[in-house]
Amino acid sequence: MRIDVLTIFPDLFTGFLATSIPANAIEQGALSCHVHDIRAHAANKHRKVDDRPFGGGPGMVMMCQPIFDAVKAAESQDSSVPAVRVLLTPQGERLTQPRVEWLAQQPRLMLLCGHYEGIDERVIEELSPLEISIGDYVLSGGELGAMVLIDAVARLQPGVLGHEESAAEDSFSVRSTDGAHLLDCPHYTRPREWNGREVPDILLSGDHAAVDRWRDAQRIERTRVRRPDLLRNSPLAHPQPLPAANTNKPAAQVARATRSTAPSHDDGDGLHGQTAPEGA
Ligand code: ADE
Repeated sequence: MRIDVLTIFPDLFTGFLATSIPANAIEQGALSCHVHDIRAHAANKHRKVDDRPFGGGPGMVMMCQPIFDAVKAAESQDSSVPAVRVLLTPQGERLTQPRVEWLAQQPRLMLLCGHYEGIDERVIEELSPLEISIGDYVLSGGELGAMVLIDAVARLQPGVLGHEESAAEDSFSVRSTDGAHLLDCPHYTRPREWNGREVPDILLSGDHAAVDRWRDAQRIERTRVRRPDLLRNSPLAHPQPLPAANTNKPAAQVARATRSTAPSHDDGDGLHGQTAPEGA
């Protein structure tokens, strides 16, 4: 997939795109990212891209022409691939995992980062982007939102995450059988005891079916306690019994998830298919 970013702060993306998952995705060829400076399209020698608001009021408003020209120039760099235009704004649709999954399947995204008090409404009407907010708070610009979105879609590109970090088991990717999005279960690694705290026995049992049941029950319980809003209209909103090892309680059956489960191999130490960390 190709992502174009339009910003007045292109340098902000340098470290971000050179690190971790976005960097892996780019290195593997699953993602290409092109950052464009909106100021390069300013029609004045001071490279000014904003002006005072008509009607008065505080702050400055980003002007139509530099933004429109920047979008057109970026799009013409590869006109064979149509871009989904996205404006990062606190007034947009709140970003959710289903939306991330949809965006991750598009061949090309054009991310527009606003600044100052906003963008002249006429260029938004002209470009008719999908408007996305990363949360109900106001940032000083859309750049952090663009990075959040890039990271979220990069990790869903085929081959970017290894088997052991499969995106299918993330919070919000696992669903109960009635379709509710669930939070992730707790995770543990070596040592078995740390600071007087033990790893739950069931994870050391080697009984994969029991471990799966326990994890599903944990997902439901966490979601019920922490994010009951995700279970609205779901029977899982009511407390479910947590299964112990080698039992098959109804809650675990209700919670059978729709994720794909890749086969894991067990070395008998409860660390399925993973290299043991130092100091175990
Ligand atoms: N720009 C400013 N605040 C924002 C937010 N919450 N989400 C996306 N873009 C923004």
